[in-house]
Amino acid sequence: MTGGGQRLHVPVLTHDVVRLLNPRPGNLFVDGTVGLGGHAEAILEAEPEVRVVGIDRDEAALERARRRLDRFGDRAVLVHGTYGNLDRLLDQHDVGPIDGLLFDLGVSSLQLDDNARGFSFRADGPLDMRMDRSCGVTAAEWLTLVSPEELERVLREYGEERYARGIARAVVRERIARPIETTAQLRDVVHRAVPRAYFTQRIDPATRTFQAIRIALNEELAQLSLGLRRGFARLSKGGTLAVISFHSLEDRMVKSYFRNLAAACICPPDLPVCACGKRVEAEILTPKPIVPTEDEVAANPRARSAKLRACRKAIEFGR
Ligand SMILES: C[S@@+](CC[C@H](N)C(=O)[O-])C[C@H]1O[C@@H](n2cnc3c(N)ncnc32)[C@H](O)[C@@H]1O
Repeated sequence: MTGGGQRLHVPVLTHDVVRLLNPRPGNLFVDGTVGLGGHAEAILEAEPEVRVVGIDRDEAALERARRRLDRFGDRAVLVHGTYGNLDRLLDQHDVGPIDGLLFDLGVSSLQLDDNARGFSFRADGPLDMRMDRSCGVTAAEWLTLVSPEELERVLREYGEERYARGIARAVVRERIARPIETTAQLRDVVHRAVPRAYFTQRIDPATRTFQAIRIALNEELAQLSLGLRRGFARLSKGGTLAVISFHSLEDRMVKSYFRNLAAACICPPDLPVCACGKRVEAEILTPKPIVPTEDEVAANPRARSAKLRACRKAIEFGR
């Protein structure tokens, strides 16, 4: 689909998100990745006396969310920016402690389905991949600047791509011949760089490369690390932090952050007495991540790899 993309992004695990955030009259929530406003809408519908501040770095998504949430009047406030900057953005809008925070990571259908955004190799388009088109370099520009070693690292770490070295070398060969400016061109470079056997996999051989470059370009893991820390710090006593992730790197980061919050002690195991002074900062609400049912995946294939984790801030740590 081109242009504005008429299909609506279907929010994933919405029922569980609302159940875990548990909206009560007077609550204030932040949706750090408001996207097209699906989760925010569900939260606002669940309880008539809650407010939601929605943040997104994508102006086009915010415009859609604005239209969708318009009927809630001043109960919904939309803010352009990155959730890694959440504390500054909330300060600017005079928002104090919050009762719950949601991050629904990754890209939206709006972004994926719009060929002009360059996130997908399924149709040809300019190789952009910036979630925020008002700043930063495009993927095409990044590919002219990145060293072969750095590109290989990005493909290996963020794409878990086993042919990272071969693909990085192929990209460098291609860019010497001509700049890599379109999604189809990058897809073809990857296709030529990997063995034939790779084509028999469930996913297209270019999938991991596109994912890796998108993560690097948008600094998604650095954003998540900042968002978790700054978001948790903003929660009031008993407030809930919920995160939906779509790949193992993100999920690992969320899981280990939650584990650390829930730990009573982080001393080395051989220390006879506790010296760290750590206290339990949060209770984990999802000992195992919540994943979509088969029915949800059948209705919304994007939900396939979703994992939802949530924790609740301990009373003694609240603001
Ligand atoms: C999966 S979509 C969210 C969909 C949303 N929950 C809904 O129901 O429509 C992820 C959104 O997060 C935004 N995003 C990703 N990283 C971000 C960041 N660091 N700061 C702010 N927004 C971000 C993307 O632009 C995208 O619109």
